[in-house]
Amino acid sequence: MIDSDALLADALELIAAASDREALEAVRIASVGRHAPLPLALRAVGELPPEQRGEAGKRLNEVRQAVEARLAERQAELESEALASTLANDRSDVTLPGRALPHGGLHVLTQTRREIEQIFLELGYAIAEGPEVETEFNNFTALNIPDDHPAKADSDTLWISDGVLLRTHTSPVQVRVMQSQQPPVAVICPGRVYRRDTQDATHSPIFHQVEGLVIDEGVTLAHLKGTLEHVTKRLFGQERKLRLRSGFFPFTEPSVELDVSWGDGWMEVLGAGMVDPNVLEHVGYDPEQVTGFAFGMGIERIAMLRHGIPDIRMLYDNDVRFLAQFPA
Ligand code: PHE
Repeated sequence: MIDSDALLADALELIAAASDREALEAVRIASVGRHAPLPLALRAVGELPPEQRGEAGKRLNEVRQAVEARLAERQAELESEALASTLANDRSDVTLPGRALPHGGLHVLTQTRREIEQIFLELGYAIAEGPEVETEFNNFTALNIPDDHPAKADSDTLWISDGVLLRTHTSPVQVRVMQSQQPPVAVICPGRVYRRDTQDATHSPIFHQVEGLVIDEGVTLAHLKGTLEHVTKRLFGQERKLRLRSGFFPFTEPSVELDVSWGDGWMEVLGAGMVDPNVLEHVGYDPEQVTGFAFGMGIERIAMLRHGIPDIRMLYDNDVRFLAQFPA
């Protein structure tokens, strides 16, 4: 005799106990798999006396259908439980802070140049630019630099041809400005300059300057001093002390060097002076009518002092580990 009710009860009990999809799969194999009691019983129907076969087969098939239906139901239940738990646990937390993507920025020299420009723009200066390939006249002659000046020698200047060179400062831009407009003038001239220097920690054959020029009636050394005081305190801190030392440039008279207090000592920051009357004459201004001051600073030097950069070459190596220290 085949006890189909017991087979059904056993299978349903196992199915109810299966708590996840893996366990249910094991129950499927144990209840309707090839070697499970129910299929074995179905195969054994053929061995029953002929008059019992119909009834037993029908009943066992009903049991199998009932077991399979229950397996499918349980399978669906477990799947929806699994989905619900995934949804509950794998939720994205939209309140978490975002993760910034790495991005580039402005080079520290560009940042420094723009800061210097901003200070002068606030004072009412205009920005003037000029070519890097210049004439000997604009770079030297108009600036009262005599032919025998050492700066003109092949050892200092990169000559392109007779009378043409790579500018050694941005002062020739000031010459161009003065030749093209009448006073009053208040400009700064930022740009790249070239000198025949051997590269080391403080020298580079290519570097950058911001030079400035103010020409008007009654401009004095006091105006220059006040301007430099304002600018250097903006750049280095209001607590800095300033010191003007006498210096020499062919195009200014008197000429000064500006030092900024640095710890116990002083740091030279820029050169300046009152525009030499010869320069004014060269560009067609009347030195009896107008006077002016000029100044020039190296952008690399300012950046190095402000940020404690020990070697000018770091500014040109494009090492991201260095550049990333100046985010902007
Ligand atoms: N032209 C000078 C230089 O390149 C800087 C400077 C400019 C000095 C204006 C005085 C006045 O060194």
